[in-house]
Amino acid sequence: MGQRREVDLATFFEDKSDIFKIPRVYKNRDALSGNFIPDELPHREEELRKIAQYLSYAIAGNTPPNLLILGSTGTGKTVTVKKVIKELKNYAGGMVETLYTVVGRTQQQTLIFLGQQMGVRLPARRGFDENWRKFKNSIDGDKKVIVVLDEIDKILPSCDLLYYLTRQQNICLVGISNKIGVMEMIKDKRVISSFNPIKIVFKRYNSSQLADILRYRASMAFCNGVLDDGVINYVASLAAKSGGDARYALDLLAFSGDIAISEGRSKITVDIVRKAMNEVEIEYIRKSISDLTDPQKILLAIVVASNENLSPSAVYNICKKVMLSYCGRDLTSWRLSEYMSELDLLGFVRIIKKGRGKGKGFSWYVQLDMSRDVILDIIREELNKMDIDFEHVVKLVKLAKGG
Ligand SMILES: Nc1ncnc2c1ncn2[C@@H]1O[C@H](COP(=O)(O)OP(=O)(O)O)[C@@H](O)[C@H]1O
Ligand SMILES: [Mg+2]
Repeated sequence: MGQRREVDLATFFEDKSDIFKIPRVYKNRDALSGNFIPDELPHREEELRKIAQYLSYAIAGNTPPNLLILGSTGTGKTVTVKKVIKELKNYAGGMVETLYTVVGRTQQQTLIFLGQQMGVRLPARRGFDENWRKFKNSIDGDKKVIVVLDEIDKILPSCDLLYYLTRQQNICLVGISNKIGVMEMIKDKRVISSFNPIKIVFKRYNSSQLADILRYRASMAFCNGVLDDGVINYVASLAAKSGGDARYALDLLAFSGDIAISEGRSKITVDIVRKAMNEVEIEYIRKSISDLTDPQKILLAIVVASNENLSPSAVYNICKKVMLSYCGRDLTSWRLSEYMSELDLLGFVRIIKKGRGKGKGFSWYVQLDMSRDVILDIIREELNKMDIDFEHVVKLVKLAKGG
């Protein structure tokens, strides 16, 4: 569908008016998107076969073993599992129920997503246990059910949903995570003893594997002759250096195509890719900030506003004030320091030790660990969505510094 429309639009503009002459760059831009499930997955045949083999137990009427798919971002975990599920559905028809969801902020939200796929409405205001019973009753006891929880680490460490799912005889749980140590994050003893999955690890792609993947996806996405020689290899080597992330590589190609169009060019050159890198970077930062929790966004805003001169405890105090007026919720400093350590891990901030002068010991400060220029507009926007005025945060920071 997407393909048809895009081509028609270009033809429409070309026919109607000269000022809308759009260079024919894309055949089907969707073929580069993250939701697209391609027919082939080069360099993932082995992983695909393994997962399919385990899940196919369901076709024979057995509950497949629980699986945990691990590997860093962009190694093809999601697309590979989705592909197996799609084939399984085609093959098994109604014999096997398959549910896929990226986990929500809470286990309740996650359960609601799963319920939606079963066609049951689970009201958020109901208790979790009550919703679970309703969900469980909606499942045909004779059917095998495969439940895929993508980014499963987000609802750990303590989680009734995992416990209930793994206790259910006819449910196979497939967890996906880019945190290799995800099992160590589970603190709930009941889950530890009931969830003992088979682990399948996805290795990072190297440059030549990425080039194969890109060539394949690009052949579906771009018109013939659009990609200059060397573009695929260039993008592949950039992506290999930044961790073997196929998503980054595909995004880079898509942004390059968009830039070519906006500059009225019908060829994508290495120069255009260089320009696209900047935009992709900003897009990634935007996405990773919007994935943060609300208190984390506020913490980050305070660090951005403070210009690196506040101690962690001063930052927490301001955050408590903002949280109180934003949602009436009080958070402990301990909790906030956990959020802050995560911001540190994600590379947004660094907590550093600075000397107070000779013989006067040290103090701790929170420093922004990325370009302030890049992050400022994004964080302002995010706060706006929460109805918090960034200028208000700036004022609180000034007050704290003055005091
Ligand atoms: N072997 C492959 N062949 C084709 N496309 C791939 C392959 N591996 C990953 N991709 C694509 O790269 C992007 C990122 O993959 P994804 O499965 O979302 O990674 P992960 O879930 O591991 O973060 C998606 O667009 C996906 O379709
Ligand atoms: Mg994924």
